[in-house]
Amino acid sequence: MSFNNLDTLYRQVIMDHYKNPRNKGVLEDDSLTINMNNPTCGDRIQLTLQLEDGKVADAKFEGEGCSISMSSASMMTQAIKGKSTEDALKMGHIFSDMMQGKEYEDDIDLGDIEALQGVSQFPARIKCATLAWKAMEKGINEG
Ligand code: FES
Repeated sequence: MSFNNLDTLYRQVIMDHYKNPRNKGVLEDDSLTINMNNPTCGDRIQLTLQLEDGKVADAKFEGEGCSISMSSASMMTQAIKGKSTEDALKMGHIFSDMMQGKEYEDDIDLGDIEALQGVSQFPARIKCATLAWKAMEKGINEG
C-alpha cells in the first residue's frame, strides 16, 4: 500500500472513531472517575473505569475535544477493555513512545491505535492524542 493510501486509510479510521465513538458514556456504581483536561486548549475528558481482579472490566468516556482527542479516547477504551491493568499500562507506554516518534514494541495488538501514529509529526497535537491515555494511567495507578 502506498503512503498516500495508508494516510487516507488512517484518516478514515480516525474519523470513524470520532463520528461513531466506542464506549461513550459514564459507568455507574463502583467505577473510578478520572477528569482531565488539556491545558493548551481547555478541552476535557471524563473517563470511568471498572477495575476487577486486575482487569479492566469496562471503560467509558465523555468529553469535549477535537477529533484527535475524542477518537484517541474511543480507541483507547476499545483497546483496554478486557485487558489486564498491566497490559493497559503497557499499551499506554507503547502509545507514548509512538507519539514521541520512538520505536515501539509491537508484541501487543494495537488495532486501530496505529492510525494515530502520524500525530507524532504534529507536536501541537500530541497532547490531544495522549489526553485519554494519561487519564487511564492515572486511574489505574491511583485507583
Ligand atoms: Fe483540544 Fe485537541 S484541540 S484536545
